[in-house]
Amino acid sequence: MNNSFILRGGIAFSEDKNRITTYYRGYIVCVDGICMGAFPSLPDEYKDLPLYDYGERLIIPGMTDLHVHAPQYTFRGIGMDEELLEWLSTYTFPEEAKYADMEYARRAYKYFTEDLRRCFSTRAVVFGTLHTDATLELMDQLDKTGLITYVGKVNMDRNGGENLQEESAEASLEATKEWLERCKGRYVNTYPILTPRFIPSCSDELMMSIGVLSRENGLRIQSHLSENLSEIAWVKELVPESTSYANAYEIFDTMGTPDCPTIMAHCVHSDEEEMSILKKHGAYIAHCADSNMNLTSGIAPIRKFMDAGINIGLGTDVAAGSSMNMVKTMLITLQASKMYYRLVDQNVKPLTFEEVFYLATEGGGSYFGKIGSFKPGFDFDAVVVDDSKMYSMRDMSIRERVERMCYNDADAIIKDKFVKGRKVYTRIE
Ligand code: GUN
Ligand code: FE
Repeated sequence: MNNSFILRGGIAFSEDKNRITTYYRGYIVCVDGICMGAFPSLPDEYKDLPLYDYGERLIIPGMTDLHVHAPQYTFRGIGMDEELLEWLSTYTFPEEAKYADMEYARRAYKYFTEDLRRCFSTRAVVFGTLHTDATLELMDQLDKTGLITYVGKVNMDRNGGENLQEESAEASLEATKEWLERCKGRYVNTYPILTPRFIPSCSDELMMSIGVLSRENGLRIQSHLSENLSEIAWVKELVPESTSYANAYEIFDTMGTPDCPTIMAHCVHSDEEEMSILKKHGAYIAHCADSNMNLTSGIAPIRKFMDAGINIGLGTDVAAGSSMNMVKTMLITLQASKMYYRLVDQNVKPLTFEEVFYLATEGGGSYFGKIGSFKPGFDFDAVVVDDSKMYSMRDMSIRERVERMCYNDADAIIKDKFVKGRKVYTRIE
């Protein structure tokens, strides 16, 4: 298959955050990896392109996982009995320490990479560990998949315990610079992203130097913000002059700019002040509903963030989230927003299916550019889904089938996946 072609099937994509456009047996046109649009009947100008007819299958935009920890993949779904800080010290840090061993890293990252290749995501923003060699191994593996990712070598120079802590701010900065040097010219699909784990893991000096590195080199940053109440109280002690956790990142100049946006995972407990800081900097919130349930962190008021015009995408946050299935993440996002409305604040309406589909596709995709829709000019990222195992007693609309897929993800089989018009995965029957 070359990079210009037509796909035919049951097409669904976000027109905007409140509307999903669908075509039964419609067409989407890819020219040189770019989407020319979706059509109910094929425009004459494209009739000479090769056509691949997927029949009754669904074709939806590729999804973006805006926050996932690759080294946590192999222990997902266990040890879910603690809240954040205990979960990190009991399960997570001891596991991440193992990535000093390259043999271990190579094996474990193969499992992660293979799952990412097979799931609904065509793009992802990924945490590695603090280890340079293991993070390069992860990037090498991801680059070969054709998926487009940002990957970070983690910075942590305090509170990691004996086995998961860099010696000093200076050592962490030097290791980061060396990692960036080794990334240069090495990848087609993989970009480095600065990754100070969160403020409790990074001294003031380290945070400051990451802010400078970001600014001087136009490098983006990802981190965690206001996930858990004990974490927030700890940050207030660590940075007493800050007016909020978000302000602490601002003090260190790590909140980014609209042209070089920072991703902040969680924001479960972000108030008006944090919202205005996120908005001012053009930062992205990676909403991780599954993780926030599992670690009893709380429910992020995503409706409020959307109304405020803050950039938002969805993250699986494996291993605090138990799976890399973005469709499952969509469902938990919907359920969480319904419980927020019912139990927390009846002025904050639940998210609609349209909104959550938008967040999973174009919302998070916009971090990468024009990604996550079949509107003209978008990169051609697409997932072909076979939902024929979801037996029904009547014909369903494409919109109903996409919603049903979200609520019954186990019966939605991914057939093919395309990134920028290149097929990156095909299911062997
Ligand atoms: N905050 C700092 N590190 C982590 C992590 O690995 N997972 C989650 N969920 N929150 C964090
Ligand atoms: Fe996380």
